[in-house]
Amino acid sequence: MIRKIRSFRQPSPAQVWATESSSVQITFGHASAGPITVTVGEKQRTVNHEGGPGSIVVDQLAAGTEHQIEFTSRDETVSLTAVTRQDPPGQLLSRFATISDLHIGARRWGALRTMTESGNPTPGHPYRLAHAAITEAIAWGAQLLVIKGDAANHEAPSMFAELGHLVDDFPDLPMLLIPGNHDVDEEATTLPLTVGDRQLPYIRKVGHHDLPGIRIVAADTTVPGRGWGSLTRVHSPILECSSEADRPTFIGLHQQLQPGRLPRQWPMGIPAPASNKFLDDLSSLRHSAMVSSGHTHRNRIRVHSETLVTEVASTKDWPGVWAGYAVHEGGISQTVRRVAAPDAIRWTEYSRQALLGIWEDWAAGSLEDRCISHQWSRDFETLLS
Ligand SMILES: [Fe+2]
Ligand SMILES: [Fe+2]
Repeated sequence: MIRKIRSFRQPSPAQVWATESSSVQITFGHASAGPITVTVGEKQRTVNHEGGPGSIVVDQLAAGTEHQIEFTSRDETVSLTAVTRQDPPGQLLSRFATISDLHIGARRWGALRTMTESGNPTPGHPYRLAHAAITEAIAWGAQLLVIKGDAANHEAPSMFAELGHLVDDFPDLPMLLIPGNHDVDEEATTLPLTVGDRQLPYIRKVGHHDLPGIRIVAADTTVPGRGWGSLTRVHSPILECSSEADRPTFIGLHQQLQPGRLPRQWPMGIPAPASNKFLDDLSSLRHSAMVSSGHTHRNRIRVHSETLVTEVASTKDWPGVWAGYAVHEGGISQTVRRVAAPDAIRWTEYSRQALLGIWEDWAAGSLEDRCISHQWSRDFETLLS
């Protein structure tokens, strides 16, 4: 209620943004320069803050526990509560990350495209935020990155060249790259086969990479020149690729799987019944699966039958995130962290004001729309047997 009557021009409040089994990310819209101390039980962490918005991660916390947190800056002391999650059953096997909706080359934001960076710096904020997101995901332990579309703001050679520079800066990180509708808005007539000196392919059908405990599949759902998506070309290849795996599958798409024929929110994704048929077919495979998309620039989680289905917000505008996945023998956990680099979070805090502040809650979703520990139903039974 307090958030509803707070002006959208006021900074976002200090809040528990993300939780995992042993860590929480606390973000804040403004704090004066000086020390910030976060106290969780007997643990205390103090950082010297340069002023403005920021993020602090507190780790080594007990799992499955309600923690009382005190956040103290020069301006205020705020009491927060965070419940750490339980890890999925079994050993931790691998970690990977996703980013989407980088929109590299974009210069403007907001309904009327009036929000810009002062001084129009080069590289622009989409590149800097994506770079910081990848850097932070690697530090978190990501062994692979999926770029889930709208990597470029338009199908333009200069933007693909900038994307190439970005991926070349992380030569040791395996990546899967799929197009979004913005990458093919010239009907895919000039979409390059690869980007960067590393020649990272734009996957035009289905690609995959295996990590311990998971097969990661990325599939192109774009319809060149259109905003909505389609599974027509990739429905069967995804199922084949998933069914050939000896482990559960993560499926990264650009457009979201709509539960209904008509979209309940903008932009349009992949309409039902094709989406529901796809999820029903996934449920019939021997191993479990989850699906995650971008495109909507918002965070949401639902479960269809036994399949976890998530949407993760954009890297480049509020809230400015990457998603981390920890793969266990009996399940997978998703955490959505805000990009914490000071330069990045200053922009995302500003971009929160889009749509007269409606964008703030709409894009962020709740903590339950971002972070989840999910048990593989079929593979957990195998683990027990
Ligand atoms: Fe997008
Ligand atoms: Fe999109």
